[in-house]
Amino acid sequence: MRIIKSVSEMQSYADSLRMAGNTIGFVPTMGALHEGHLSLIRKSIEKTDKTILSIFVNPTQFSPSEDFGKYPRDFERDEKLAEDLNVDVIFYPSKEAIYHDGHSTYTIVEGLSAQLEGESRPSHFKGVSTVVNKLFNIVKPHIAFFGQKDAQQALIIKKMTADLNLDIDIFVCPTIREDDGLAMSSRNIYLSPDSRKQAPLIHQALKEAESLHLNGEKNPEMLIRKITDTLNSAPIARIDYLSIVNSETLLPVESTNEGALVVVAVFFEKTRLIDNILLTTSK
Ligand code: PAF
Repeated sequence: MRIIKSVSEMQSYADSLRMAGNTIGFVPTMGALHEGHLSLIRKSIEKTDKTILSIFVNPTQFSPSEDFGKYPRDFERDEKLAEDLNVDVIFYPSKEAIYHDGHSTYTIVEGLSAQLEGESRPSHFKGVSTVVNKLFNIVKPHIAFFGQKDAQQALIIKKMTADLNLDIDIFVCPTIREDDGLAMSSRNIYLSPDSRKQAPLIHQALKEAESLHLNGEKNPEMLIRKITDTLNSAPIARIDYLSIVNSETLLPVESTNEGALVVVAVFFEKTRLIDNILLTTSK
Protein backbone atom coordinates (compact mmCIF):
# COMPACT_ATOMS: atom_id res chain seq x y z
CA MET A 1 0.00 0.00 0.00
CA ARG A 2 1.33 3.40 -1.01
CA ILE A 3 0.95 6.51 1.09
CA ILE A 4 0.94 9.63 -1.05
CA LYS A 5 1.03 13.12 0.43
CA SER A 6 1.71 15.28 -2.60
CA VAL A 7 -1.09 16.43 -4.93
CA SER A 8 1.02 16.16 -8.09
CA GLU A 9 2.27 12.69 -7.18
CA MET A 10 -1.30 11.54 -6.54
CA GLN A 11 -2.43 12.94 -9.88
CA SER A 12 0.41 11.25 -11.79
CA TYR A 13 -0.20 7.96 -10.02
CA ALA A 14 -3.94 8.15 -10.80
CA ASP A 15 -3.05 8.85 -14.45
CA SER A 16 -0.76 5.81 -14.54
CA LEU A 17 -3.47 3.59 -13.01
CA ARG A 18 -5.94 4.79 -15.64
CA MET A 19 -3.42 4.35 -18.48
CA ALA A 20 -2.88 0.76 -17.37
CA GLY A 21 -6.63 0.18 -17.78
CA ASN A 22 -7.63 0.16 -14.10
CA THR A 23 -10.88 1.50 -12.71
CA ILE A 24 -10.30 3.69 -9.66
CA GLY A 25 -12.59 3.53 -6.64
CA PHE A 26 -12.35 6.41 -4.18
CA VAL A 27 -13.36 6.56 -0.52
CA PRO A 28 -12.95 10.11 0.85
CA THR A 29 -12.74 10.25 4.65
CA MET A 30 -11.53 12.42 7.49
CA GLY A 31 -9.90 9.39 9.12
CA ALA A 32 -10.81 7.91 12.53
CA LEU A 33 -12.03 4.97 10.48
CA HIS A 34 -14.91 2.84 11.75
CA GLU A 35 -16.96 -0.02 10.30
CA GLY A 36 -18.97 2.46 8.22
CA HIS A 37 -15.83 3.57 6.37
CA LEU A 38 -14.60 -0.01 6.11
CA SER A 39 -17.86 -1.02 4.41
CA LEU A 40 -17.26 1.71 1.79
CA ILE A 41 -13.71 0.44 1.25
CA ARG A 42 -14.94 -3.15 0.88
CA LYS A 43 -17.54 -2.03 -1.66
CA SER A 44 -14.90 -0.11 -3.61
CA ILE A 45 -12.58 -3.13 -3.64
CA GLU A 46 -15.46 -5.29 -4.85
CA LYS A 47 -16.47 -2.92 -7.65
CA THR A 48 -13.19 -1.42 -8.92
CA ASP A 49 -9.60 -2.46 -9.71
CA LYS A 50 -7.77 -0.01 -7.43
CA THR A 51 -9.02 1.63 -4.26
CA ILE A 52 -7.78 4.98 -3.07
CA LEU A 53 -8.67 6.14 0.43
CA SER A 54 -8.17 9.79 1.35
CA ILE A 55 -7.65 10.91 4.92
CA PHE A 56 -7.95 14.65 5.30
CA VAL A 57 -9.62 16.54 8.14
CA ASN A 58 -11.00 19.34 6.01
CA PRO A 59 -10.85 22.68 7.86
CA THR A 60 -13.31 24.48 5.56
CA GLN A 61 -16.25 22.30 6.57
CA PHE A 62 -15.92 23.19 10.27
CA SER A 63 -17.21 26.50 11.64
CA PRO A 64 -14.96 28.29 14.16
CA SER A 65 -17.15 26.97 17.02
CA GLU A 66 -16.91 23.34 15.87
CA ASP A 67 -14.50 20.54 16.69
CA PHE A 68 -11.80 20.85 13.96
CA GLY A 69 -8.98 20.99 16.52
CA LYS A 70 -10.15 18.04 18.57
CA TYR A 71 -11.54 15.92 15.69
CA PRO A 72 -10.14 12.39 16.32
CA ARG A 73 -6.92 11.69 14.40
CA ASP A 74 -4.99 8.40 14.52
CA PHE A 75 -3.14 7.84 11.26
CA GLU A 76 -1.28 4.72 12.40
CA ARG A 77 -4.49 2.96 13.33
CA ASP A 78 -6.19 4.02 10.08
CA GLU A 79 -3.17 2.91 8.07
CA LYS A 80 -3.28 -0.56 9.62
CA LEU A 81 -7.01 -0.94 8.96
CA ALA A 82 -6.57 0.17 5.34
CA GLU A 83 -3.61 -2.17 4.84
CA ASP A 84 -5.59 -5.11 6.24
CA LEU A 85 -8.34 -4.47 3.70
CA ASN A 86 -5.88 -4.21 0.77
CA VAL A 87 -6.39 -0.55 0.01
CA ASP A 88 -3.99 0.39 -2.81
CA VAL A 89 -3.25 3.99 -1.87
CA ILE A 90 -3.88 6.28 1.07
CA PHE A 91 -3.88 9.90 -0.06
CA TYR A 92 -2.87 11.81 3.08
CA PRO A 93 -2.25 15.45 2.20
CA SER A 94 -1.43 18.32 4.53
CA LYS A 95 -3.74 21.31 4.87
CA GLU A 96 -1.24 23.36 2.85
CA ALA A 97 -1.23 20.81 0.03
CA ILE A 98 -5.00 21.16 -0.41
CA TYR A 99 -5.44 24.83 0.42
CA HIS A 100 -2.37 26.69 -0.85
CA ASP A 101 -1.77 30.26 0.26
CA GLY A 102 -4.32 32.56 -1.30
CA HIS A 103 -6.78 29.77 -2.14
CA SER A 104 -10.09 31.53 -2.87
CA THR A 105 -12.19 29.26 -5.08
CA TYR A 106 -15.17 27.34 -3.68
CA THR A 107 -17.81 24.98 -5.05
CA ILE A 108 -21.32 25.69 -3.79
CA VAL A 109 -24.35 23.50 -4.49
CA GLU A 110 -27.16 25.99 -4.02
CA GLY A 111 -30.54 24.98 -2.60
CA LEU A 112 -29.72 21.54 -1.22
CA SER A 113 -26.86 22.93 0.89
CA ALA A 114 -29.03 25.49 2.67
CA GLN A 115 -31.57 23.09 4.20
CA LEU A 116 -31.47 20.83 7.31
CA GLU A 117 -27.75 20.42 8.17
CA GLY A 118 -27.13 23.61 6.19
CA GLU A 119 -29.43 25.61 8.48
CA SER A 120 -27.63 24.38 11.59
CA ARG A 121 -24.16 24.53 9.99
CA PRO A 122 -24.34 27.34 7.39
CA SER A 123 -20.90 27.00 5.73
CA HIS A 124 -20.51 23.25 6.20
CA PHE A 125 -21.52 22.04 2.74
CA LYS A 126 -19.55 24.78 0.98
CA GLY A 127 -16.48 23.20 2.59
CA VAL A 128 -17.60 19.65 1.80
CA SER A 129 -18.41 20.22 -1.88
CA THR A 130 -15.23 22.24 -2.35
CA VAL A 131 -12.94 19.60 -0.87
CA VAL A 132 -14.69 16.69 -2.58
CA ASN A 133 -14.47 18.48 -5.94
CA LYS A 134 -10.76 19.11 -5.33
CA LEU A 135 -10.19 15.50 -4.25
CA PHE A 136 -12.01 14.26 -7.36
CA ASN A 137 -9.58 16.34 -9.47
CA ILE A 138 -6.62 14.88 -7.63
CA VAL A 139 -7.64 11.21 -7.28
CA LYS A 140 -9.44 11.00 -10.67
CA PRO A 141 -11.81 8.20 -9.63
CA HIS A 142 -14.32 6.33 -11.79
CA ILE A 143 -16.55 5.62 -8.77
CA ALA A 144 -16.68 7.42 -5.40
CA PHE A 145 -18.29 5.87 -2.32
CA PHE A 146 -20.34 7.70 0.34
CA GLY A 147 -22.48 6.56 3.27
CA GLN A 148 -26.26 6.93 3.54
CA LYS A 149 -25.87 8.15 7.13
CA ASP A 150 -24.84 11.49 5.65
CA ALA A 151 -27.80 11.42 3.25
CA GLN A 152 -27.75 15.15 2.55
CA GLN A 153 -24.01 15.09 1.85
CA ALA A 154 -24.45 12.18 -0.61
CA LEU A 155 -27.25 14.04 -2.40
CA ILE A 156 -25.19 17.23 -2.64
CA ILE A 157 -22.21 15.34 -4.06
CA LYS A 158 -24.46 13.64 -6.63
CA LYS A 159 -25.90 17.02 -7.62
CA MET A 160 -22.45 18.61 -7.84
CA THR A 161 -21.20 15.74 -9.99
CA ALA A 162 -24.17 16.05 -12.34
CA ASP A 163 -24.13 19.87 -12.49
CA LEU A 164 -20.39 20.03 -13.19
CA ASN A 165 -20.52 17.12 -15.69
CA LEU A 166 -17.95 15.17 -13.72
CA ASP A 167 -17.47 11.70 -15.20
CA ILE A 168 -17.72 9.94 -11.84
CA ASP A 169 -20.36 7.54 -10.48
CA ILE A 170 -21.48 8.21 -6.93
CA PHE A 171 -22.28 5.01 -5.04
CA VAL A 172 -24.17 5.35 -1.75
CA CYS A 173 -23.77 2.51 0.78
CA PRO A 174 -26.12 1.65 3.67
CA THR A 175 -25.58 3.05 7.17
CA ILE A 176 -23.62 0.69 9.39
CA ARG A 177 -24.87 0.45 12.97
CA GLU A 178 -23.69 -0.73 16.35
CA ASP A 179 -25.58 -3.77 17.73
CA ASP A 180 -27.91 -1.44 19.63
CA GLY A 181 -28.77 0.53 16.47
CA LEU A 182 -26.58 3.61 16.97
CA ALA A 183 -25.29 4.73 13.56
CA MET A 184 -21.50 4.49 13.40
CA SER A 185 -19.79 7.86 13.41
CA SER A 186 -16.31 9.11 14.26
CA ARG A 187 -17.99 11.49 16.69
CA ASN A 188 -19.52 8.67 18.80
CA ILE A 189 -16.30 8.59 20.81
CA TYR A 190 -17.21 12.01 22.25
CA LEU A 191 -20.33 10.55 23.92
CA SER A 192 -20.25 10.34 27.71
CA PRO A 193 -21.32 6.94 29.13
CA ASP A 194 -24.82 8.32 29.86
CA SER A 195 -25.20 9.80 26.39
CA ARG A 196 -23.90 6.61 24.79
CA LYS A 197 -26.56 4.67 26.69
CA GLN A 198 -29.36 6.96 25.49
CA ALA A 199 -28.18 7.62 21.90
CA PRO A 200 -29.60 4.37 20.38
CA LEU A 201 -33.02 5.91 21.01
CA ILE A 202 -32.54 7.87 17.77
CA HIS A 203 -32.65 4.70 15.67
CA GLN A 204 -35.41 3.26 17.85
CA ALA A 205 -37.53 6.38 17.24
CA LEU A 206 -36.92 6.20 13.48
CA LYS A 207 -37.82 2.49 13.39
CA GLU A 208 -41.05 3.21 15.29
CA ALA A 209 -41.96 5.85 12.70
CA GLU A 210 -41.15 3.38 9.94
CA SER A 211 -43.44 0.77 11.40
CA LEU A 212 -46.29 3.31 11.89
CA HIS A 213 -45.81 4.32 8.25
CA LEU A 214 -45.89 0.69 7.13
CA ASN A 215 -49.13 0.27 9.08
CA GLY A 216 -50.74 3.08 7.11
CA GLU A 217 -49.86 6.31 8.95
CA LYS A 218 -49.01 8.76 6.16
CA ASN A 219 -49.32 12.02 8.08
CA PRO A 220 -45.81 13.44 8.65
CA GLU A 221 -46.98 15.48 11.63
CA MET A 222 -48.19 12.34 13.44
CA LEU A 223 -44.90 10.57 12.73
CA ILE A 224 -42.89 13.57 13.86
CA ARG A 225 -44.92 13.73 17.07
CA LYS A 226 -44.20 10.06 17.78
CA ILE A 227 -40.46 10.45 17.11
CA THR A 228 -40.34 13.57 19.27
CA ASP A 229 -42.07 11.78 22.16
CA THR A 230 -39.62 8.89 21.97
CA LEU A 231 -36.58 11.18 21.80
CA ASN A 232 -37.90 13.29 24.66
CA SER A 233 -37.90 10.16 26.82
CA ALA A 234 -34.08 10.40 26.80
CA PRO A 235 -33.39 13.06 29.42
CA ILE A 236 -30.12 14.13 27.74
CA ALA A 237 -31.41 14.33 24.15
CA ARG A 238 -32.10 17.75 22.59
CA ILE A 239 -33.53 17.70 19.09
CA ASP A 240 -31.75 20.09 16.70
CA TYR A 241 -34.00 19.33 13.73
CA LEU A 242 -36.45 16.62 12.79
CA SER A 243 -38.17 16.61 9.43
CA ILE A 244 -39.76 14.31 6.87
CA VAL A 245 -38.59 15.31 3.44
CA ASN A 246 -38.59 14.25 -0.18
CA SER A 247 -35.46 12.13 -0.60
CA GLU A 248 -34.42 13.99 -3.77
CA THR A 249 -35.27 17.62 -2.98
CA LEU A 250 -35.03 17.49 0.83
CA LEU A 251 -38.18 19.63 0.98
CA PRO A 252 -40.84 18.70 3.59
CA VAL A 253 -43.52 16.32 2.33
CA GLU A 254 -47.25 16.62 2.99
CA SER A 255 -47.79 12.88 2.97
CA THR A 256 -45.26 10.11 3.52
CA ASN A 257 -45.37 8.41 0.17
CA GLU A 258 -42.69 6.10 -1.20
CA GLY A 259 -39.23 7.59 -0.78
CA ALA A 260 -39.91 10.05 2.03
CA LEU A 261 -36.84 10.45 4.20
CA VAL A 262 -37.00 11.06 7.94
CA VAL A 263 -33.97 13.11 8.93
CA VAL A 264 -32.93 14.01 12.42
CA ALA A 265 -30.10 15.72 14.29
CA VAL A 266 -29.95 15.35 18.05
CA PHE A 267 -27.59 16.77 20.63
CA PHE A 268 -26.47 14.51 23.43
CA GLU A 269 -24.76 17.07 25.64
CA LYS A 270 -22.29 18.74 23.26
CA THR A 271 -22.21 15.89 20.74
CA ARG A 272 -24.50 16.28 17.75
CA LEU A 273 -25.58 13.04 16.06
CA ILE A 274 -27.44 12.71 12.77
CA ASP A 275 -29.41 9.80 11.38
CA ASN A 276 -32.16 9.09 8.86
CA ILE A 277 -34.50 6.41 7.59
CA LEU A 278 -36.05 6.02 4.17
CA LEU A 279 -39.77 5.23 4.34
CA THR A 280 -40.81 2.61 1.83
CA THR A 281 -44.25 1.17 1.19
CA SER A 282 -43.22 -2.42 1.91
CA LYS A 283 -40.53 -4.20 3.90
O1 PAF B 1 -18.01 12.52 5.24
C1 PAF B 1 -16.86 12.94 5.47
O2 PAF B 1 -16.07 12.31 6.18
C2 PAF B 1 -16.42 14.28 4.88
O3 PAF B 1 -17.47 15.19 4.83
C3 PAF B 1 -15.76 14.14 3.50
C4 PAF B 1 -16.72 13.60 2.46
C5 PAF B 1 -14.55 13.21 3.60
C6 PAF B 1 -15.26 15.50 3.02
O4 PAF B 1 -14.32 16.04 3.90
